Amino acid sequence: MPPGWDAVDPADLQAVLQFALDTFDPNIALASSFGLEDVALIHALIGLNPDARIFALDTGRLPEDTYECAERIQERYETKIEWYFPNTTAVEELERTKGLYSFRASVENRVECCGIRKVEPLNRALADKAAWITGQRREQSVTRFGLNVLESDAAHAGIWKFNPLADWTLDQVWAYVRAHDVPYNRLHDQGYPSIGCAPCTRAIAPGEDERAGRWWWETPEHKECGLHNRKGQS
Ligand code: ADX
Ligand code: SF4
Repeated sequence: MPPGWDAVDPADLQAVLQFALDTFDPNIALASSFGLEDVALIHALIGLNPDARIFALDTGRLPEDTYECAERIQERYETKIEWYFPNTTAVEELERTKGLYSFRASVENRVECCGIRKVEPLNRALADKAAWITGQRREQSVTRFGLNVLESDAAHAGIWKFNPLADWTLDQVWAYVRAHDVPYNRLHDQGYPSIGCAPCTRAIAPGEDERAGRWWWETPEHKECGLHNRKGQS
């Protein structure tokens, strides 16, 4: 663990983010999909450093409401989002050879699309970073069961990965967002607790798991797109 981490209370959001910035800024950035967790983290992070870095992966298939949320966040916090776009040649090749919905045909095809639209741009985003911050929470999914607030990211050359909300519940995130009047994605009010690309996200019914609307045609253990592969996962 980085020196000084032992003295940080991992349940203290401000303390975790302050440690992350003190230790790694400017070689650290928050990865934002503009979901509820990410807008909460943006509020906290910008409160500590108005110049804190935020990056986002524009897959080319995001819902319109996500772009609008990003714009409202940018205006409210007077920050510049570092957007990353997929390699155009790779997307052109994918769409020309396999069409626009290849990801529905098989897990392999879906992983291929996520690889082109998310994983490769993420690798570029992290190439100059010593650490990154995500909005993952443990209760979101079986694939995030063992999540820690600070981890070494084996999938990205062992750089540090902060998941400051790892132990938070969805209700806690809502309480934080409401308390600080943070702009959030309007889809959250329409049955979408978890939001990814438009064609791979649907609203959930009451009682369904938070991520039931993500890649809903797949089984839960497959529902990672490659951004957050951990030891033992492909
Ligand atoms: S995903 O891997 O299934 O898409 P999820 O939507 O749960 O992830 O988001 C978990 C975290 O991954 C977010 O809090 C954010 O840190 C990061 N993330 C997900 N999608 C993006 C994106 N398009 N751009 C930047 N970061 C993202
Ligand atoms: Fe492609 Fe769907 Fe993955 Fe987005 S979530 S990159 S559209 S497979």
